[in-house]
Amino acid sequence: MPARIYITRPLPAGVAEHLREAGMEVEIYPKDQVIPQDVLLRAVEECDGLLCLLTDMIGREVLARAGRLRIIANYAVGYNNIDVEEATRRGIAVTNTPGVLTDATADLAWALLFAAARRVVEAERYLREGRFQGWGPQLFLGQEITGRTLGVVGLGRIGQAFASRASAFRMKILYNSLEADPEFEGAYPYGASRVDLDTLLQQSDFVSLHVPLTSETHHLIGRRELRLMRPHAVLINTARGPVVDEAALAQALREGWIWSAGLDVYENEPAVHPGLLTLPNVVLLPHVGSATFATRLRMGLMAAGNLIAYFQGRRPPNLVNGGVWKNG
Ligand code: DGY
Repeated sequence: MPARIYITRPLPAGVAEHLREAGMEVEIYPKDQVIPQDVLLRAVEECDGLLCLLTDMIGREVLARAGRLRIIANYAVGYNNIDVEEATRRGIAVTNTPGVLTDATADLAWALLFAAARRVVEAERYLREGRFQGWGPQLFLGQEITGRTLGVVGLGRIGQAFASRASAFRMKILYNSLEADPEFEGAYPYGASRVDLDTLLQQSDFVSLHVPLTSETHHLIGRRELRLMRPHAVLINTARGPVVDEAALAQALREGWIWSAGLDVYENEPAVHPGLLTLPNVVLLPHVGSATFATRLRMGLMAAGNLIAYFQGRRPPNLVNGGVWKNG
């Protein structure tokens, strides 16, 4: 019997084909929208493998219905949408897509940094509205980037890729992570040191978040932390929305505790805190960190590769709950 795979949303061409070529039976939720919960619940009852997205909440209710499900391949590096503990308890493998989206996400974090520091979106809107009357010495002044201090919270793959790009701007780096990374520090030409979070927030001109969402990182940046930041500082979040207390951030931006922010992720996606939507000093993107043609295809092929490995009796290369793997 071929393994039955359910894909919760159409993915780039080539992904389903890859699974079919490996002998799997593939069904795809046909609409380009988040799969409704009732459809998801029916689907998991009948599949052996699920290829799902970060917008699919795979919690206890879903897992309780997934009698024959053996593996969940998440189409994302973050997997906070899946109750991994419950999946593990049920012996269901969970995989993610690390590495393949590192550069795309690091690049987008820089796009946000530039946009928020130099008021790119605000200025472009001004021009389109026909308000540009010619060059002006005070027009859209922003923050200098080159030579300043960059605070990187979380020095995993994406944090490191983001940080390494700062050498082009001769920036000093302060980073906060569970462990020091002497190799990174040694290779970075303009000075990189590990500091505690408070020091990072107090001394950085730009702060970019690159931590996974866990119970420890939920609201890692709240009122107290925003108060520690410099009034000219810029905050960037391409990690997960709930790492920042959005209500506190809206207040910080409105009252000038910090200068601006660039966000790609939100506490309650797709909703955005209404206090942010009306502010000019925040750049808001719709969670597109990994959205390049090449990256999204690589993510799909990696997720498919995890499913194929599993059903061929091999350990999936990106298994996040190793405890379920008993085959050697
Ligand atoms: C991820 O992979 O976790 C990103 O948020 C989406 O690509």
